[in-house]
Amino acid sequence: MARSWTSRVGTVLLSAGAIVGLTAVPSSAGGGAGSAGAGDPYFPLQGNGGYDVAHYDLTLATTPATGRLDAVAAITATATQQLKAFDLDLRRTLTVSAVTVDGRPAAFAQPASLGQELVVTPASPVRVGAQFTVVVRYGGVPVEVTDPDGSVEGWVRTADGAFVVNEPQGSPGWYPCNDTPTDKATYDFHVTVPTGVTAVANGELVRAPRTSGGRTTFDWHLGQPISTYLSFATTGQFQVTTGRTPGGIPYFTAVDPAQPSDLSQLPAMVDFFGTVFGRYPFSSTGALVDDAPEVGYALETATRPSFDSAPDELTLAHELAHQWFGDSVTVARWRDIWLNEGFAEWSSWFWSEHSGQTSAQQFFKKYYATPASKTDFWNPPPGDPGDAADLFDDSIYERGAMTLQALRVKIGDDAAFLGLLHDWQTAHRFGNARVEDFVAFTVARFPQVPGLQHFFQVWLYDPGKPANW
Ligand code: ARG
Ligand code: ZN
Repeated sequence: MARSWTSRVGTVLLSAGAIVGLTAVPSSAGGGAGSAGAGDPYFPLQGNGGYDVAHYDLTLATTPATGRLDAVAAITATATQQLKAFDLDLRRTLTVSAVTVDGRPAAFAQPASLGQELVVTPASPVRVGAQFTVVVRYGGVPVEVTDPDGSVEGWVRTADGAFVVNEPQGSPGWYPCNDTPTDKATYDFHVTVPTGVTAVANGELVRAPRTSGGRTTFDWHLGQPISTYLSFATTGQFQVTTGRTPGGIPYFTAVDPAQPSDLSQLPAMVDFFGTVFGRYPFSSTGALVDDAPEVGYALETATRPSFDSAPDELTLAHELAHQWFGDSVTVARWRDIWLNEGFAEWSSWFWSEHSGQTSAQQFFKKYYATPASKTDFWNPPPGDPGDAADLFDDSIYERGAMTLQALRVKIGDDAAFLGLLHDWQTAHRFGNARVEDFVAFTVARFPQVPGLQHFFQVWLYDPGKPANW
């Protein structure tokens, strides 16, 4: 789903493969084919050019005891160029058995040289502007994806199922997709498991689970567009709780009994952030807590964040705040990660302040006391992590949140600062943005605040401990 928006800096159109100023990897399939990457230098093969996905319909059958996944993915997309051939992202550990395009058998290949590309050649080229449906039948035992920072993600097997998280590149480990943050789509999931196992995905359960022959199918639907890294379909033994927040948002929480969790603040957090940042972007909320400590991170999976173990209150607030900053306004390129992590981290401080605990300014003071000699804490500067291995470094989170707290102090008027966050989120709702867009948005909004460009230079881009901003 491509989005365009108008900001004070002009109109920006982002669609898959069209990130201005970046060069996409050419297709392995030659002329007339969509490119094999969307042009992000951190992950050159991630995403593909030539089309724009609107919807993923994923039928996933899995058995925890064997770890096997047998699946059919139906992908509805629009061609942004004539397509003799095009790529989807899918890891080669999953074997494709058949592909159709608009119901006609298509040729396909999973070239070893590329590792995560499924090259599809339709029986006849897809015309530019045409909507088309690709159906991919595939299966295997998914293998976790290892990130440049050493974390494992994707479809991560657990004692009783699989914990599924994908930031930044796990999704092709379990379904074929256009794995770029700029191609947002809606989702349906039909997950079949042995009866007794629960399957949880994004969005809402559209009907009561269907059981037949010892297998149960869970149908989940997400009606708002999200980036692929925010999708999930986790399976295992969970205690489920449902209800509504006082503000009326339905929630569904699923907790692994091995990780008893206090989620009692969740409804209040979602409602609070909604009053500050703008209406909650999705039609339901909740949380999923699994027992998968080998993953080592929690993720803001859309509607329902995923935790690899019981979260503390700040972590719960961080992941819920991401629903606005990360899931609604999403990075245009991975180097824009500060727009996700700095904002979610600051929001968790603000929740703490709001609920009468440590204030955001107290967090700032505590972290600012870190000596300049602790270069690992202060670097890389959050506005430009420099490479994929440093995307989730502490500096992106803590120095990133300090940047927003320092901005709040510099603006000197809480209503004006919170209005900035609110209007930024609503201006880019369900869209993508770059760090430079936030800087321009802020500078244009506060002409009376002197030195904002210098402020952002020091906090976002200069290496080392910020001073004199
Ligand atoms: N976005 C997640 C969070 O809320 C972190 C994802 C970390 N991913 C990784 N590959 N290290 O903090
Ligand atoms: Zn985060």
